[in-house]
Amino acid sequence: MTPQFFQQYEENTAAVIAELKTGLLASDAQIAPKFFYDLLGSRLFAAITALPEYYPPRVEAEIFVNYSKEIAQALGTHATLIDLGAGNCEKVARLFPILQPAQYVAVDISVDFLRDALEHLGRQYPDTAMLGVGADFSTQLDLPADVSDKRRTFFYLGSSIGNFSAAEAVPLLERLRRNMGAEDGLLIGMDLVKPIATLEAAYDDALGVTAAFNRNVLLHINRILGSDFRLEDWRHIAQFNTQASRIEMHLEALREVRVTWPGGERHFAAHERMHTENSYKYTPESARALLQQAGLVVQQLWTDPMGYFALIYATPV
Ligand code: AVI
Repeated sequence: MTPQFFQQYEENTAAVIAELKTGLLASDAQIAPKFFYDLLGSRLFAAITALPEYYPPRVEAEIFVNYSKEIAQALGTHATLIDLGAGNCEKVARLFPILQPAQYVAVDISVDFLRDALEHLGRQYPDTAMLGVGADFSTQLDLPADVSDKRRTFFYLGSSIGNFSAAEAVPLLERLRRNMGAEDGLLIGMDLVKPIATLEAAYDDALGVTAAFNRNVLLHINRILGSDFRLEDWRHIAQFNTQASRIEMHLEALREVRVTWPGGERHFAAHERMHTENSYKYTPESARALLQQAGLVVQQLWTDPMGYFALIYATPV
């Protein structure tokens, strides 16, 4: 079947610029993690997923392999699979032979990221209807009418939920909940609390790929805002904040820095930081509680022998 594509999200450049300026001018300067993902940033993130220190993708894949039968039993066959942040669709596509989905809906910010993968999958699995939806589901999710409402399983993998605070994650999960019926469910990957040294190494690898990923945000911002950030003025910081149970990434000024852009400027003292990302780490209990707040109840939680990562199947309360 030929895939169908729906682009719903449209970028509002003025709003993006306003958001960036507000973040830079805040007393504790911040840049939202979505700005990591320009073309180079997306490639650097792909490289991160291959790093020995960055365990989440490897451990999540191991859980899928070890529990494939149980997972398939929980999800059932011939369902509608809705893959949030699908990208190259690889992870969910690996389950096609066992789940035999009736319909596969890949959601990402732009359908352009999905085209090649869906066209390829369409040829490989001609009996599965393929849909690509370009949406920013972190703020809105109105699935096209062509998305079947029969046995919907939402996939939100890779611990991407970790990049949202509870105040942001609960509305996002509630949005998914509102798109589910009684028979539907969510399979979500959540990263778990573990020794601090392991966590910090995962976000500050020896090769410096995560540092490059973090610092590259400055080049991206320069292009959007016309600012004059210089890479040599900033260093990468990744620290576990135990109280908040999150890895925090920052960029720290190596010296006094003055950054300008058309119509504005910001002065940074030496060692002043800009906060670029949070990555929340859960315990099985705090993961259950977060889902519960969004009206979802955990049916199954699979983990690895080290208890590094959890794959959770949750359904509407
Ligand atoms: C995309 N997200 C789940 C990654 C994480 O682990 O929080 C982003 C990342 N940042 C640094 N390394 C990976």
